[in-house]
Amino acid sequence: MKIELSEEHLMIQKAARDFAQNELLPGVIERDDTMTFPHEQIKKLGELGFLGMMVDPKYGGGGMDTISYVLAMEELSKVEAATSVVVSVNNSLVCWGLETFGSEEQKQKYLVPLAKGEKIGAFCLSEPEAGSDATSQRTTAVDMGDYYLLNGTKNWITNGGNASTYLVIAQTYPEQGSRGINAFIVEKGMEGFTVGPKENKMGIRASDTHSLMFQDVKVPKENRIGEDGFGFKFAMKTLSGGRIGIAAQALGIASGAYELALQYSKERKAFGVPISQHQAIQFKLADMATEIEAARLLIYKAAWLKDQHMDYTQAGAMAKLFASKVAMDVTTEAVQVHGGYGYVKEYHVERLMRDAKITQIYEGTSEVQKIVISRGVLKG
Ligand code: CAA
Repeated sequence: MKIELSEEHLMIQKAARDFAQNELLPGVIERDDTMTFPHEQIKKLGELGFLGMMVDPKYGGGGMDTISYVLAMEELSKVEAATSVVVSVNNSLVCWGLETFGSEEQKQKYLVPLAKGEKIGAFCLSEPEAGSDATSQRTTAVDMGDYYLLNGTKNWITNGGNASTYLVIAQTYPEQGSRGINAFIVEKGMEGFTVGPKENKMGIRASDTHSLMFQDVKVPKENRIGEDGFGFKFAMKTLSGGRIGIAAQALGIASGAYELALQYSKERKAFGVPISQHQAIQFKLADMATEIEAARLLIYKAAWLKDQHMDYTQAGAMAKLFASKVAMDVTTEAVQVHGGYGYVKEYHVERLMRDAKITQIYEGTSEVQKIVISRGVLKG
């Protein structure tokens, strides 16, 4: 593996860092408090090309590699994970899924506006009774000839309220298990499709997470993605790449908290000296820096494998498993370094600690990552 950041990588990293400081930082506490979706910020990110970074320019994307994407995800997530999750879902689940497996007509109609950031997308797999066990889909899509009749409920859908294009996974042939599942493109406004109330979450509160209800929704046949029965593999393959994005989000949350703790430790005095001069704090900073660097390398490796068109499923799961634990460890320690100040909102680290937790849950819990990794390990 050879990873050397190019001039272009460094430019993307800087652009994302500047955006985070100038556009996300002002207002981040209030958006978190009031659960306000960052509409304006997402619109600007779309105009700057951050919502379809890896999509081929012929479909309106930036044609960048996965390393560029993880660099941007880290920088945005240092400041506002509620915004970076929108970027992640749109890029690695919705755009990648459509570009890789969609028909030419689907790409022209749906991918182009998503890649340009004119619309945002959602990925709808989880259900009230199918979270980790993704094969147990209760949502049904009955083949009616020209269309599928979609019925069921999806839960915890990121971008649920603000998306226009939804990739929905449903069971067509229940007796065939994972091979009987299909994936569909559903548009907001289709008759029978309703969005439930917004969830009041512990973290990433400004992102909008909803249940979705489908009641006799007629989905045209041409909106099925891939061959009949391809839906489960579509979801798994798409999530394999999505996990690299969430790992980068976890890395950003950790490195954001670490940078704040480092800065604070140089300013805050106790027992006559800046607390950074106490070994108790130095050891914390050393552990944080080491864990962050290890997570970064795992993520770069997974991204590099993906860019080389090599198998990255296991590497992505390892990166997400590790980086999300690092995010929890580092943000908790960052609060500790800040002492009482760390427990109040103005210092940002309490939000980063709350945001960190979701990275151990969505796009597969840590336990799911261990299933994926152990299967790879046992296969040899
Ligand atoms: N790539 C390609 N194919 C894959 C695959 C992958 N990563 N994983 C599984 N498959 C294939 C298998 O090869 C198998 O194919 P065959 O039928 O041809 O043999 C088929 O899919 C079924 O595979 P399994 O038997 O392994 O399926 P399983 O039911 O045992 O899967 C699991 C277990 C890995 C835990 C899976 O259910 C899983 O990943 N669950 C977690 C789901 C998840 O991540 N949900 C997150 C929701 S999306 C989200 O959070 C987005 C957001 O809002 C931010």
